[in-house]
Amino acid sequence: MAQTFYNDLILETDGNVYSPREDSFLLANNLQVKKGEKVLEIGTGSGLIAILCARKGAEVVATDLNEHAIKCAKKNAEGNKVKVDFREGDLLAPLKNGEKFDLIIFNPPYLPRETKYSDRPIDLSYNSSETLEKFLEQYRDFLKENGRAVIVNSTLSGVQAEGEIIAEKKLAFEKIFVIQLS
Ligand SMILES: C[S@@+](CC[C@H](N)C(=O)[O-])C[C@H]1O[C@@H](n2cnc3c(N)ncnc32)[C@H](O)[C@@H]1O
Repeated sequence: MAQTFYNDLILETDGNVYSPREDSFLLANNLQVKKGEKVLEIGTGSGLIAILCARKGAEVVATDLNEHAIKCAKKNAEGNKVKVDFREGDLLAPLKNGEKFDLIIFNPPYLPRETKYSDRPIDLSYNSSETLEKFLEQYRDFLKENGRAVIVNSTLSGVQAEGEIIAEKKLAFEKIFVIQLS
């Protein structure tokens, strides 16, 4: 069990779930969410971003393909006393017919798949830049008119995502970006 702190939030994760780090914090520090907005977070992991959005008064749905992440994020939301509708499943598949959002957020597993791929749940957090490509093809159908989508991307992902760079950070082997998609 690991604990991560973000301001006054405490997030607990185990070895099956992505513990928040630089990319998560860059996104968290640059969240622009208004009270009453309908927000969707894809790939919630520990739940950090979904919890922050709920704290700002948004109505939040959060998904993850990793069942361990959904359990963990539920616990973290309860521990931090916020309400989030967590749903397990692939990208936008857990959404109901006609559900639309003001804001969709995704910090994807952007590192290209390693040759030695394993089936561990935690590898969903690291491997498969094609997940981001699939998201980019699908997300518009779930945005309200004038809705917006924000993602994290990295120079390592090999995926081109057009939009406005809201924040960026240079790390040891990559540069990461928070991008509002156009
Ligand atoms: C880089 S982690 C980000 C976790 C968290 N949002 C954060 O910022 O700390 C990527 C997350 O996406 C999830 N994920 C990977 N593929 C997915 C898919 N096809 N659909 C939904 N979630 C997925 C992983 O399980 C993981 O929790």
